[in-house]
Amino acid sequence: MSVIEVSNLSKSFGSVQALDNISFDVKEGSIIGFLGPNGSGKTTTIKIMMQLLHQDSGTVKIFGDDVSKNLQEIKSKIGIIPDADLPKVKGHTILKHTGRYAGLQGQALDKRIQETISIVGGKSFYKRKTQTFSKGQRQRIKIANALMTDPPLIIADEPTAGLDPVSRRQFLKLVENLSAEGKTIFFSNHVISEIEKSCDELIILSEGKIVSQGTIKSILSSIPITNTYNLYLEGIGEDDLKELPGVETVEKLKNEQIIIKTSGGANTPEFLKVLVNNPDVKITSFSKGQLDLENIFLKVVENEK
Ligand SMILES: Nc1ncnc2c1ncn2[C@@H]1O[C@H](COP(=O)(O)OP(=O)(O)O)[C@@H](O)[C@H]1O
Ligand SMILES: [Mg+2]
Repeated sequence: MSVIEVSNLSKSFGSVQALDNISFDVKEGSIIGFLGPNGSGKTTTIKIMMQLLHQDSGTVKIFGDDVSKNLQEIKSKIGIIPDADLPKVKGHTILKHTGRYAGLQGQALDKRIQETISIVGGKSFYKRKTQTFSKGQRQRIKIANALMTDPPLIIADEPTAGLDPVSRRQFLKLVENLSAEGKTIFFSNHVISEIEKSCDELIILSEGKIVSQGTIKSILSSIPITNTYNLYLEGIGEDDLKELPGVETVEKLKNEQIIIKTSGGANTPEFLKVLVNNPDVKITSFSKGQLDLENIFLKVVENEK
């Protein structure tokens, strides 16, 4: 079942086309990373989902309901973590307000506040004023607030921006825990390597258009990328290695290590198939260099221009 269905969504601000006819689906229970450089239209999309902004054309359906028609009904099913400042009040005042708005009161309200505060680890500071919070504490209160109604869908706009690596990892762990409970999570980011491991699928936006979509594996196999392989081998010379299929460059280091660069997706490299089938060749060590995800992300974004 689709939890979010975005169809042909467009939005302009004067002469700036922030969103140009984007469409995507989010399946129930998945963790979706909504990626794109600054200014690509992520916040605009998320604001339209909550109807904080109105689209020029296209539709957004959440749990099957059109957000521009049935917003009130949908709102209780969404926990939103906005990319916006917190009101200048005490942390628990925000949670109380959200809980009351959702119909909680008295002991039930207090209990839910305690629960969400404990989920985000905010006990030591949540009663203080938000002006005194660190970036990480602000983020925790925003998350607790989004969880107040125990919503099945969580939408977050750059929730890890500005967090230190420890807080970021804690957030991603929390996302994975929530997903294990069956919740659907849709969150934006502008750095692929920060979130890629936690997402089932990525949707990559550039200048208001979706340029790639799918699992990281399918995205990697769909674009031409340079791969680096490190080998120690016997029985074949550098010149013969250069002739192997897909090989772009061969370099031999002082310590005899061979560095081979190839282009062409994330599949098993063709040159390796030839080498392992050659009885004269002995491979004593083989490893693949780390993919430079940021470069790949830039390539995906640049390719479409
Ligand atoms: N209220 C606004 N008025 C004018 N331009 C806007 C407004 N909001 C966003 N934009 C423009 O729309 C584009 C997309 O912005 P945004 O959705 O905030 O991108 P992202 O969240 O991916 O950084 C940018 O070019 C931005 O300058
Ligand atoms: Mg934004």
